[in-house]
Amino acid sequence: MTAFSGEAMILLNPGPVNISERVRRALTRPDLCHREPECAELLARIRHKLLQAFVPGHEAEYTAILLTGSGTAAVEACLLSCLPPGKRLLIVNNGVYGQRLMDMASLQRLAIPDLKYEWTCRPDPETIRVALTQHPEVQAVALVHHETTVGLINPVHEIAEVVDNLGRVCIVDSVSGLGGEPLDIAGRHIYLVAGTAGKCIQGVPGVSFVLARKGFMERARHYQRRSWYLSLARYYEAQEQGSVPCTPAIQVLFAFDEALTELLEEGVANRIKRYGQAAALIRERMQALGVRPVLPASHQSHSLTAFYMPEGISYQTLHDQLKARGFVIYAGQGHLESTIFRIANMGALTENDVAAFLDAFQDVLEHHRGQA
Ligand SMILES: Cc1ncc(COP(=O)(O)O)c(C=O)c1O
Repeated sequence: MTAFSGEAMILLNPGPVNISERVRRALTRPDLCHREPECAELLARIRHKLLQAFVPGHEAEYTAILLTGSGTAAVEACLLSCLPPGKRLLIVNNGVYGQRLMDMASLQRLAIPDLKYEWTCRPDPETIRVALTQHPEVQAVALVHHETTVGLINPVHEIAEVVDNLGRVCIVDSVSGLGGEPLDIAGRHIYLVAGTAGKCIQGVPGVSFVLARKGFMERARHYQRRSWYLSLARYYEAQEQGSVPCTPAIQVLFAFDEALTELLEEGVANRIKRYGQAAALIRERMQALGVRPVLPASHQSHSLTAFYMPEGISYQTLHDQLKARGFVIYAGQGHLESTIFRIANMGALTENDVAAFLDAFQDVLEHHRGQA
């Protein structure tokens, strides 16, 4: 085991991510009471920047709803807030986070049986069309954008088109997608998208959000409230009045505000390009080292690559030896836990950081292969 020294680490896990010094400094802004006008201004600024970043040109049709809590809070709030009485959800499940959608919906008996796929497969929009035709009680379809389990991009645009054409509501968990992957929310009539501050937007963890079609939220305000704390309608109504129902994570919001300014300065398309370039460097070097990716290039995201464990070294050894050199990698999950590892390239990483990591990785691997 490596001892944690408290030294800065390069994080190659899919969030929390390395943040810029500018975002870190924002955490130490002067203390603020959440019932003061400065807090209302902060909330309004963040909500506006979210719309500018993710529904540019359609800001008037969407609203951004902020929640204190990790990405899961935003996802669960969407699922609990989207159904009129008697209606059901259909979950598209091809990974750990698709399964989590199903688990959350099942706790409240909101879902019909899910559409399950292998974790390395993209769901076929046609099967979703057939399921919706067979199930008139289904009012909403929920799926994950970037399935972080193996770094797979689901065909959200194609599925959203099917869902919208059949008069249903498309809900997307883009917790690990927004900021790192393209998503045409407004163009595809996606009704609810859950995101988080602490991944590709490069803020710190603790605040999440939902981008929602305004017309939908006006209807959903009158739906049954299945949770007090995770009622989207409650946050929407309060925030439209410049308020919040309970104490928000103010310092995290300061950092989020700064991270969104950085995102808008860089441009969402440029950030995606930067992530894509870092991912390409990682994939090229791994290929040269004979470390195989889990997914074909066509399915891979810009911000995470899953690789099969190289022969003769355990994940724990690889992780610990890299951590001793200042780099944190990420294990597989579920049934892939012992066979794969993951390298994310989200966050304020430079090309030099990525190159230094790859040199360290090569060093550890070759040292180990030499011993075998
Ligand atoms: C696709 C996806 N959804 C939801 C979550 C849950 O986010 P959090 O851990 O912030 O609650 C994650 C976390 O990695 C994720 O990757």
